[in-house]
Amino acid sequence: MLVHGKHFRTIWLDDADPTQVCVIDQRSLPFEWRVETLQSVSDAARAIREMHVRGAPLIGVTAAFGIYLATLESTSNAFLQEAGSWLKQTRPTAVDLFYAVDRSMRAVLAVQEESARVRIARQTALEMAEESVEHCRKIGEHGLSLIRAISQKKNGKAVNILTHCNAGWLACIDYGTALAPVYQAWSEGIPLHVWVDETRPRNQGARLTAFELEQQGIPHTVIVDNAGGHLMQQGMVDLVLVGSDRTTRNGDVANKIGTYLKALAAYDNQVPFYVALPGTSIDPALTDGVRTIPVERRGEEEVKAIEGWDGRKRREVQLTPAGSPALNFGFDITPARFVTGLITERGVCSASENGILGLFPEWKRDI
Ligand code: MRU
Repeated sequence: MLVHGKHFRTIWLDDADPTQVCVIDQRSLPFEWRVETLQSVSDAARAIREMHVRGAPLIGVTAAFGIYLATLESTSNAFLQEAGSWLKQTRPTAVDLFYAVDRSMRAVLAVQEESARVRIARQTALEMAEESVEHCRKIGEHGLSLIRAISQKKNGKAVNILTHCNAGWLACIDYGTALAPVYQAWSEGIPLHVWVDETRPRNQGARLTAFELEQQGIPHTVIVDNAGGHLMQQGMVDLVLVGSDRTTRNGDVANKIGTYLKALAAYDNQVPFYVALPGTSIDPALTDGVRTIPVERRGEEEVKAIEGWDGRKRREVQLTPAGSPALNFGFDITPARFVTGLITERGVCSASENGILGLFPEWKRDI
C-alpha cells in the first residue's frame, strides 16, 4: 500500500544483502517512519514479541523469515528445532505463527544438505509472503460485494464501516484483511467512511489504522473504544468489519480485546458483523473458542501508561495512580453466534463448522 505515495509491503529481503530481512518498526507509527533489519532468528523473535511487527498474518510470515535467518546461523537439526520453539513462544494467540513455523520447519528438515536448507527456508518464507498478499487481495474482492450491496441499498450515500484494532496492510504483507474490502470498495469509487476504534491499550486503531486510511485518502474518524454501541444505536454504522487472530472450526473468533463488545452491540442493533480472515488464521483443531483459544496476557504498564507525540519525540506518560494494579488481556473471543459471516480468500461463509468446511474441505479429516 502507499506511504507518502510510494508502495510498500511490511516485510521484504534487503536488495543489496538478502541475508537481511527488512520490516517497518510499527511501534514508531504514525509519528516516525523507521525500517529495521532483522539479522538473526533472535532478532525476528524479538520483533514479534515486542510488537515491532504485529497482526496475525505478518507475525506468521515474520516467523517464516525467522526460520530462514536461523538457517543462516546454523543448519543443524538441534539449532533449527530450538529456533522454531523460540519463535513459537513469542505470542500465543495468532495461530498463523504456529502454522508458519511448522510449515517452514517441515520443508527445511525434509532436506539434508546445508545450502539446500537455506534455499528452501528462504523460498518458503517468500512463498508464504506472496500467498498472504494473494489471500488478502481475494478477501478484498469477496468483501467488496458486501459493501457494494449496502451502498446500493443506501442509494450511493457513504457506507459507514466500523473497525477495531488494525487489520489493514500493516497487520499483513499488503492490503490487509478487514481493510482489504474497504480499499477495494474505495478504489471502485464506492463512497464510504470508516469509524476507527482507538483500541486501547496500544492504540493500534488510532495509530495504525488511522495512518493507513489517511495515507490512502479514505474518509475516517477515530472514536474512543466505548463509542461504537452508541453509534450503532443512532444508525451511524452500516457494517462492522474486523480481523481474526484465531478462528475455531465452529467459527468462534479471537481478535483484539474489545471485539466481543462490538459484536454484542452489533447483534443488539442488527448491524452486520463480519470477520475477514485468511485460511491460515483458522485453527481446525479447536471447537470451543472461549475455553480453548490461548489468550495473550501482556504487561500492566501498557494499561497504566500511554505513548504519544509531544511535537518533537514520542513520549510516554502515566495514566493511573502508580500503586493501582492493571490487567491486560490482549484478545477476547467472539462466539460464532454473534458473527454474521466470515470473509475468506475462498469466499464468504457462515461462522459455523458447515460454513468453514464448505470452503476448506481439506480440514474435514483434521479433527
Ligand atoms: O496485538 P496485535 O496488534 O498483533 O493484534 C492484531 C489484531 O488483533 C488484528 O485484528 C488481527 O491480527 C487480525 S489482522 C489481519
